[in-house]
Amino acid sequence: QSIINTGKPYSLRQIISKSTRICKCFSKRKFSDISRKFLSFDEVAAQRRAEAKRSLVVQVNSEASFNELYGYCSKYASVNGIHHYKNSGDEHFMLIEFKTEEESKNVIHSCSSHQKDVDVMALHSPFLWFRAVSGKKEAFQIPKSQLMTTKGCNSIDEDNLIEELANCEDVSEQIQQMHDRTALNDLGVRLRYMVARQIERIFESLYANIVVRPFGSSVNGFGKMGCDLDLVLTNILNEEMCDSSKRLVYQEKKCEGGRSPWQRHMELVGELLELRVPGATRVQRILHARVPIVKYAHEFTDVDCDLCYNNMSGVYMSELLWLYGSLDPRVRPLTFVVRRWAQTVGLTNQHPGRWITNFPLTLMVLFFLQQKGKDGCVLPSLKTLVQYAGKEDIRLAEENLNCTFLRDMNKLPTDTYGQNKANLETLLLQFFEFYAQFDFHDKAISINEGVAIRKPNTLPLYIVNPLEQALNVSRNVSYEECERLKLEVRNAAWLLDAGLDGKKTDGWGILGLIERKSTRGLKNLLKVGNSHRLVSVKDLFNNDDDKIEKVKAKRDSE
Ligand code: CTP
Ligand code: MG
Repeated sequence: QSIINTGKPYSLRQIISKSTRICKCFSKRKFSDISRKFLSFDEVAAQRRAEAKRSLVVQVNSEASFNELYGYCSKYASVNGIHHYKNSGDEHFMLIEFKTEEESKNVIHSCSSHQKDVDVMALHSPFLWFRAVSGKKEAFQIPKSQLMTTKGCNSIDEDNLIEELANCEDVSEQIQQMHDRTALNDLGVRLRYMVARQIERIFESLYANIVVRPFGSSVNGFGKMGCDLDLVLTNILNEEMCDSSKRLVYQEKKCEGGRSPWQRHMELVGELLELRVPGATRVQRILHARVPIVKYAHEFTDVDCDLCYNNMSGVYMSELLWLYGSLDPRVRPLTFVVRRWAQTVGLTNQHPGRWITNFPLTLMVLFFLQQKGKDGCVLPSLKTLVQYAGKEDIRLAEENLNCTFLRDMNKLPTDTYGQNKANLETLLLQFFEFYAQFDFHDKAISINEGVAIRKPNTLPLYIVNPLEQALNVSRNVSYEECERLKLEVRNAAWLLDAGLDGKKTDGWGILGLIERKSTRGLKNLLKVGNSHRLVSVKDLFNNDDDKIEKVKAKRDSE
């Protein structure tokens, strides 16, 4: 994949490191799966959910407790693997995965509560702590193959990253590297599924049919380390639960009163998070929004969570993005750089407002990759995925929203995508050039069609919601922010193009787009209109007159 992405072979050292990773991936898959090129989203989610059901997270005093904890747990169950991490409070945690769910349940049932205290109500949850004991301890040693220490699963060491990118051989390698180094890692995904599992476990005695699923960037393949966790809580009854041949039926409680029952249940969820969920802090209820949510911070894992109810379209949307990302290895690296560039130049912002967010930005990348240039497209339109859908792909979300599209990419004819073999460097430049020329005034972006369509209204930016085509996912974007977007894609195209002459001066390649310091410049050479952003081309190109002239010439011609 990397050779395709970067268009050049790797050194022996790189090949060894990358093949070790590939071997690890394969060893997780069943042998029979290897002949299938693509796994489905449901298969991956089911595997992650099962993994979370077999796992526990235990807080320990220090590194000295690792072996002792391993020895203690091995008495109750066989351990599959242990991951160590520290949260932002510098506390040590071990995520332990057991061989079976039954074994992890045995361990939970063998735990004790802290102390006799009338104010504390006992609770079984997969988050535990390991009590220190005095006196002689039994000697244990965690087998090396089982201990995985992850250097942070929430934050990225920026200085290291920039240095690594500066040392890359070319821009394509930089883009690939940025993805590999900043994407949410295995432990980050495991912990997010543990947070979902914790609520499911605590709430399941109150709601017999409850499922809590992660969605959004934690599972759609575009999540970076430290990303928020979007969770959806559903109470869908399956056929077996409604079996009319059974004569004994549960007495159940119907929610009375005028207000939406689920608004009341979400209020209760907020209360339960505050009262009953260890680790959940800073609970905020936003219940009058179109999609009511309860926000909270999970302090054992440092994950910020947004919990909503019955929003299955959000899950299917994540599935769609995941499928697009898995179809071609260039999609995710390219999207990562675009998202990072947008953050650097201040187009996106972690607070909600009149600006674009990561989700519509991702749709912009997918739409660009659907364009049929002279070499053909990289990705198929959603229309094509709907066309090849079978009965097994039919999904209806809330309010009968039709979310049917092909789920098994092994069934997608290979001539419907991937003809364009351009490397990442070329694609990134073409992305900026494409949007620098895009007619935002009259046209809307639609990944359903794969071509620009006429805008149905005068909103500044129109990106069709792929699963609800009457809606615009960027309706919040103001005129000024849309103008800024247009300006920034042009700036980016100029900067990248001017820097593609092979010279590795300061801020070469994507560094000019993603490094904050390069935008803190003095000279307003590329400034157009009322942008707040000042770009110092002199700084960026280290006084390289050739490059500066090239940018000026390009700017003047446009
Ligand atoms: N979503 C949607 N329609 C929207 C906005 C969001 O269906 N108008 C769904 C998408 O599946 C999206 C998810 O909700 O991925 C979560 O939205 P958000 O948190 O805004 O985006 P993320 O993709 O999670 O990106 P980020 O890393 O910025 O959180
Ligand atoms: Mg999110």
